[in-house]
Amino acid sequence: MESSCTMQAVFLHLLLLFGNIDATDDERKRYDGYRLYKVFVPDDESLELLTNMQDDDGYHLWLRPMINGTADVMISPARIQEFMQKVNTTKLEPELMMDNVQKYIDDENPRGNVRGAFDWLGYHRLNTIYSWLDSLVTQHPEIVKPIIGGSSYEGRRIKGVKLSYKEGNPGIFIEGGIHAREWISPAVVTYILNELILSDDSRVRYMAESYDWYIFPVFNPDGYEYTHTTNRLWRKTRRPTGRGCYGADPNRNWNFHWAEGGVSRNPCSEIYPGDKPFSETETRTMSQYIDSIQTKIFSYVAFHSYSQLLLIPYGHSNKRVSNYDDLFQIGNYSINALSQRYGTRYKVGNIVDIIYVASGGSMDWVRGTYNIPVTYTYELRDKGRYGFILPASQIIPTAKETLDSLVAMFEQAAKLGYGSSMTAQFRL
Ligand SMILES: *[C@@H]1O[C@H](CO)[C@@H](O)[C@H](O)[C@H]1NC(C)=O
Ligand SMILES: *[C@@H]1O[C@H](CO)[C@@H](O)[C@H](O)[C@H]1NC(C)=O
Ligand SMILES: *[C@@H]1O[C@H](CO)[C@@H](O)[C@H](O)[C@H]1NC(C)=O
Ligand SMILES: [Zn+2]
Repeated sequence: MESSCTMQAVFLHLLLLFGNIDATDDERKRYDGYRLYKVFVPDDESLELLTNMQDDDGYHLWLRPMINGTADVMISPARIQEFMQKVNTTKLEPELMMDNVQKYIDDENPRGNVRGAFDWLGYHRLNTIYSWLDSLVTQHPEIVKPIIGGSSYEGRRIKGVKLSYKEGNPGIFIEGGIHAREWISPAVVTYILNELILSDDSRVRYMAESYDWYIFPVFNPDGYEYTHTTNRLWRKTRRPTGRGCYGADPNRNWNFHWAEGGVSRNPCSEIYPGDKPFSETETRTMSQYIDSIQTKIFSYVAFHSYSQLLLIPYGHSNKRVSNYDDLFQIGNYSINALSQRYGTRYKVGNIVDIIYVASGGSMDWVRGTYNIPVTYTYELRDKGRYGFILPASQIIPTAKETLDSLVAMFEQAAKLGYGSSMTAQFRL
């Protein structure tokens, strides 16, 4: 007994010692012993219990609760017992998805730091993505033009490209990486860009050459870098916002029904919308860029993860946009095409109807401000097995099925008269 206590003390001492070395050497946030639970939300009482956890230290809602749906909650080791007690008094039945989140982070991206090489076998740093965009411009100068669309709080550029085979094609805007930790988004967006240039599939070629593409893989470069260097699960921008906290949710910060719902005024919250619309350099500068090309685009498509959903505006109310029926039908074709390759199932619908109220998103601003008719937000794979930590081995399959869905989306949109020419139906 005594000797085991001594052993424990020595071990604790070593732990502290190494802990200290670790902290000075490497400031990375670790998730050792954090657990991820999926919880079914049967009633208002459970909804309230889970919603109140939102801003508590030690509770992290990966997927916010919806009634008759599920919530995904990550819990720090110190809170696990308390959580189990809380749910024991309710009808909640948490299902353990990850017993050690750090292990999933460690295993996610084995090929991500192969120096210099850009591919879709790993998730890459911002500079690698940007160098690859530069190389496209160099290799295909007649069709690929560089764009600096905006900038970030820490002074990074928000880089994109315009891909155009024919002057005056109707334009499609592709947004990736606005939420820092959703790594699959920039990976899928870059894959799609590459296929638009190199694919020899006739339907992909027809789509590529019938539209002008404005493609920005990483809307939130500061946050994206931070997820690589410091905290894998960072979501927001990196501006100091008060109470010692950083960042606003860049997809709650756009100036359309700003902060009307699905936000928290606590600057430490992951859904803090900023202190005013466009408080963030990233959204403000990108909104100015979008304003400068708004007459050239008929479609805006944003890529997030996760949940396997195709979302139609708006997020502040369940009032339907004027062409909701068209968007539903196009979306329905799109998700059916997506399911063909690997059987991946999506749902399509209005944001409020199929997830929850979430105001101030980029898609809603584009739709509400300019009446851009074909606007969607993808929530890519998966449904919470890996959540934000989707293994890099799933990049290519996710990207392939998503490209399938995009082809179907714009084929069906064209059948309904959207973007088929610069005339009448180009805008509603
Ligand atoms: C949840 O599902 C139950 C059973 O299907 C139903 O009676 C109830 O109205 C649903 N609640 C909401 C808010 O949709
Ligand atoms: C939950 O409740 C059950 C029975 O009501 C009990 O056996 C179990 O120990 C409780 N668990 C916790 C973590 O409180
Ligand atoms: C959606 O697609 C399914 C499968 O093809 C079809 O059965 C259904 O009628 C479609 N719904 C709408 C509204 O287009
Ligand atoms: Zn997101």
